[in-house]
Amino acid sequence: MKICIVGASGKLGTYMVQHALDRGYEVVGVCRERSVSKLAAYKGRITVIPGATNDRQVIQKAVAGCDGVLTVLVPWGANHYASGTAQAVLDYAQPGARLIFSCGWHITRDGKDVYPQSFKREEKIARWLGRLTRIVDIDDQVEACRRIFASPTRWTVVRGSDLEEGESQGLPVWRKHVGDPILESNMTRRVDYALFMVAALENGELVREAPAIVGCRTPSALAHTAAAGSGYDHSRTGNYLQI
Ligand SMILES: NC(=O)c1ccc[n+]([C@@H]2O[C@H](COP(=O)([O-])OP(=O)(O)OC[C@H]3O[C@@H](n4cnc5c(N)ncnc54)[C@H](OP(=O)(O)O)[C@@H]3O)[C@@H](O)[C@H]2O)c1
Repeated sequence: MKICIVGASGKLGTYMVQHALDRGYEVVGVCRERSVSKLAAYKGRITVIPGATNDRQVIQKAVAGCDGVLTVLVPWGANHYASGTAQAVLDYAQPGARLIFSCGWHITRDGKDVYPQSFKREEKIARWLGRLTRIVDIDDQVEACRRIFASPTRWTVVRGSDLEEGESQGLPVWRKHVGDPILESNMTRRVDYALFMVAALENGELVREAPAIVGCRTPSALAHTAAAGSGYDHSRTGNYLQI
């Protein structure tokens, strides 16, 4: 399998590069010119295409011949960076390719997510601050996902909880909607978020889904998997939660 990682030099991106290489995939990475050195550890093992992720020519070149594209969707600046990135991937990925995008719980696909008050407050503040400083444009990430949800491609939008660093704990658990009690702990190890993104490439169950994820060892995940008494497999390549 040949895959492209758009945003390969960031924290989530480098974890995804490692997981993809562990699986034996051929990897093409896209990152800003100034960040190429952040991928020095992978020199000779991956192909790096420098450039802005919303540069359509860069994306066209990077995704050529790829069976899957993993995109770190971040709404930098005030120039439609996230929607430009998503649109380029949707337009140029080869037909039938698996397209996996990252974003946060704040994205909703059908409006059926139920958010804690504190979450809504923080989102409001982030949206206001982002607009004021023009550093981030949360609404552009919303627009990017609107386009993805409307696309006939084989997409998955992985909605991350709050993130923390640390050793892998295994594949996160997921639900269709925020508000499900299993997600209550609102924390995932970044390395496991990356694992979920990479594992989604070969999980047909996630095609055209927007899973909201949480770490499989968080209190809420443990409480609900124990209550269900399921044979949940926490191993690295284990199956997704079935209850
Ligand atoms: N942080 C959280 O708590 C959290 C929670 C839920 C979901 N998420 C989602 O997780 C994904 C990754 O987030 P992350 O926080 O872990 O960050 P990250 O992996 O470090 O990714 C940041 C990305 O943005 C790029 N970038 C940084 N500054 C930029 C700029 N000025 N212009 C263009 N690109 C720039 C970075 O590239 P360079 O290497 O070139 O700097 C990198 O690819 C995002 O989709 C986010 O929505 C994050």
